[in-house]
Parts: sequence; structure tokens; C-alpha cells
Amino acid sequence: MLETLSLDGKTIVITGGGTGLGREMTLAMARAGADLVVAGRRTGPIEEVAGLVRESGRRALAIATDVTDSSQVNRLFERALGEFGKVDVLFNNAGIVRGQGNTPIWEITDEDWRLGIDTNLSGAFLCSRAISKHMVDRGTGKIVNVSSGFGLRGGRHNYMYACAKGGIVQLTRALATSLGRYGVTSTCIVPGFIPTQGTDESRMELPRGDFIPIGRVGYPRELGPIAVFLASAASDYMSGEMFAIDGGGLAGGYAPTGHAPEIPLEV
Ligand SMILES: NC(=O)c1ccc[n+]([C@@H]2O[C@H](COP(=O)([O-])OP(=O)(O)OC[C@H]3O[C@@H](n4cnc5c(N)ncnc54)[C@H](OP(=O)(O)O)[C@@H]3O)[C@@H](O)[C@H]2O)c1
Repeated sequence: MLETLSLDGKTIVITGGGTGLGREMTLAMARAGADLVVAGRRTGPIEEVAGLVRESGRRALAIATDVTDSSQVNRLFERALGEFGKVDVLFNNAGIVRGQGNTPIWEITDEDWRLGIDTNLSGAFLCSRAISKHMVDRGTGKIVNVSSGFGLRGGRHNYMYACAKGGIVQLTRALATSLGRYGVTSTCIVPGFIPTQGTDESRMELPRGDFIPIGRVGYPRELGPIAVFLASAASDYMSGEMFAIDGGGLAGGYAPTGHAPEIPLEV
């Protein structure tokens, strides 16, 4: 049974793979046998992670890419295909949290809105568009998207992020229903609160461990096993679905709207 979790021989492209959750997913998938193409805007973090992948005995390529720019996205996949000849799995993980959940709607500029939607939603669309025909022609492929608990519920002053992450859930469903019969699946990871550089910079109202049913926030490394599972043959019959990894947060454990701490709990 465990051999179905092996990623030996698979080529995986991951966006935002240089830091935070993407870094841990990349390293876990390399340990499971995959070759990785790591994309992000800054070269420092993606080069470092690609180096760690190579040290673990797998092949890796770091390609500086802004996922909001379709010409850069197309070039990313041309280079990945040029180097590895195929792409088995795409991880749409790049996103920004910074400036996404702390501004009243009347203060949000056109630029704020476009940046939030372009980074957190359009980038995943552009990457999926660029590689899906290749996957369809091969009759096999997986597109794994990263949404958020805010993709499934609202949050105070949370517009671009929540709208884009909700869009990611729908992108997953659209890809799954459109490409399934060509052998291509799409699934969606829904992380809860897992402190990273991205969340440190967000200035969002973030839940404390007390509000999470299992009593603590998550660790980035805890994303590794679910990434391996969703990239592997073990998840071949799963498509169009969301997989929450949030310590039970969506079950109602932490303040769902950002208002609950202001409401006294009386028994
Ligand atoms: N941590 C959490 O609690 C949590 C919860 C729910 C969902 N998520 C989601 O998980 C994903 C990873 O977040 P994280 O917490 O690991 O934060 P992070 O460390 O800030 O990671 C975000 C990554 O995305 C890349 N990125 C941002 N804009 C990009 C662009 N335009 N083009 C290409 N790459 C871009 C960043 O690299 P560059 O800046 O170098 O481009 C960075 O490596 C995001 O989609 C986030 O929304 C996180």
C-alpha cells in the first residue's frame, strides 16, 4: 500500500515554494522521490530550496516567476518542460496575505484589489491554463490548489483574500469537472492558521491556539504529508474536493468572523 505514496519519477512544479508552507511541501515531496521546479519572485528563497532538494538526491530547478504575469508563467512551464520533458503535478501555492485582511472596504484601492485577486486567484488560473493541455495530451496530471479557511467563510475587513480563496475552491471544482475525463484531477488544500513569514506580515486578526479545537496553531511541516498524498497515486480517485488541515478550526472552534472575542461568553 505505501508504494502508492511514492513520488519517484514525478516532476512537480510548485509556486511560492521558497518559503513557508510551500517550502515544507517542496522538501517533503522531494523526500518522497519527486523532482521539483520551484517558482517565486525572489531568487534567494527558491534557489535555497532547490539546493536542499538536490542535496536530498533529486533534481531541482529554481525559476524566478511572478504568477500574476502570464508571459512569465508561460516561460516557467516552457523551461520546466525543456528541462524535465513532462509535468505530472502542479501546486498552485503562491499567495499573499500581507495587506489582505485589515482595511475597511472604503479604503481599499483599485491596486489593492487587483493585487490581491491577481496573486491569490489569477496566478493559479494562469498556471493551470499554461500546463493543463500538456496534462490532457498525456492523459494524466494533478493540479493541487491552496485555498484557506477564509475561502469558506467571511472575516472582518477581509475582501481580496477571502474572495480570491473562495475563487480557488471554485477553480478546483471547474478543473475537476472539466478535465477529469482526460485523466487530470484537481484538489484543494485548506490550511488553517499556521504561522509563517506571510502570516507574520499580515496584521490580520489571527486566532490564538485557545480557539482551535486541538489547542494549538499548526506547523508548516505538517503540510508535507498531505502534499505528498495529493501528489501521489494514493489520491487518484479524489477530485474536486477540499482537504482541510486546521486543527479542527472549521468545525467551529475559532472565531469565525473576527467578532467573537468581543462577545462575552456567558454560561
Ligand atoms: N500560513 C497560513 O496560516 C495559511 C493559511 C491558509 C492559507 N495559506 C496559503 O498558503 C500559501 C502559502 O502561504 P505562506 O503562509 O507559506 O506564506 P509565505 O511564506 O508568504 O509564502 C507565499 C509564497 O508565495 C510567493 N509569492 C507571492 N506572490 C507571488 C507572485 N506574484 N508570484 C510568485 N510567487 C509569489 C512568495 O514568494 P515571493 O515573495 O518571492 O514571490 C512566497 O514564497 C498561500 O497561498 C496562503 O494564502 C496560508
